[in-house]
Amino acid sequence: MRDNAIAVYYATRDGQARRIAEHICRRLNDGRKPPTPRNLLPTPPPPAELAQASLIVLVAAVRYGKHLPEVERFLNAYSALPSPPPIALASVNLSARKPGKTTSSGNPYLRKTIARHRLAPAAAIAFAGRLDYRRYSWRDRQIIRFIMLLTGGPTDPDTCIEYTSWSAVDEFADQIAALRRRD
Ligand SMILES: Cc1cc2nc3c(=O)[nH]c(=O)nc-3n(C[C@H](O)[C@H](O)[C@H](O)COP(=O)(O)O)c2cc1C
Repeated sequence: MRDNAIAVYYATRDGQARRIAEHICRRLNDGRKPPTPRNLLPTPPPPAELAQASLIVLVAAVRYGKHLPEVERFLNAYSALPSPPPIALASVNLSARKPGKTTSSGNPYLRKTIARHRLAPAAAIAFAGRLDYRRYSWRDRQIIRFIMLLTGGPTDPDTCIEYTSWSAVDEFADQIAALRRRD
């Protein structure tokens, strides 16, 4: 039996996906107990927990062309449920800072993940993440700077920019709230 709660999960390395998941949970607070966002690491949620949710929200960061490995494991477990609840997907990456790259058709990570897992998400969006060269290892910094050079982004190694549109996160949370009301 579904317990009618929205379950919010995130996968992060540098914290932006967690911040977005927390923002969504705060926005969902409509007098009921707001959901608590849960990290997919170190322990993935048990399948029974997923099956009980009325709606699953997944906020997933991208690294080196893919969502984090725990996202793949989570979606495999989700897809294996006999009757999976609806899912809302939010991908967090830097490609989404570009116009046209925030939708499920325009964002390559979102598009490929949806196709690979044969998902039919109730909502899907890509949010632009955060670029903070000082946090990265020397190797990661050089690679990301090179990618930024190719894609017209900042290459100054002191750059720290949050590209996330918090109004877009609010809109996504409102979409989720509307899905809950329809339930
Ligand atoms: C090592 C590394 C690899 C990344 N690879 C990609 C990538 O392939 N495509 C992309 O659009 N963004 C990429 N990014 C940007 C991240 O998706 C972005 O910084 C996001 O905010 C990370 O989310 P997190 O803070 O929750 O870990 C990368 C960032 C790092 C540090």
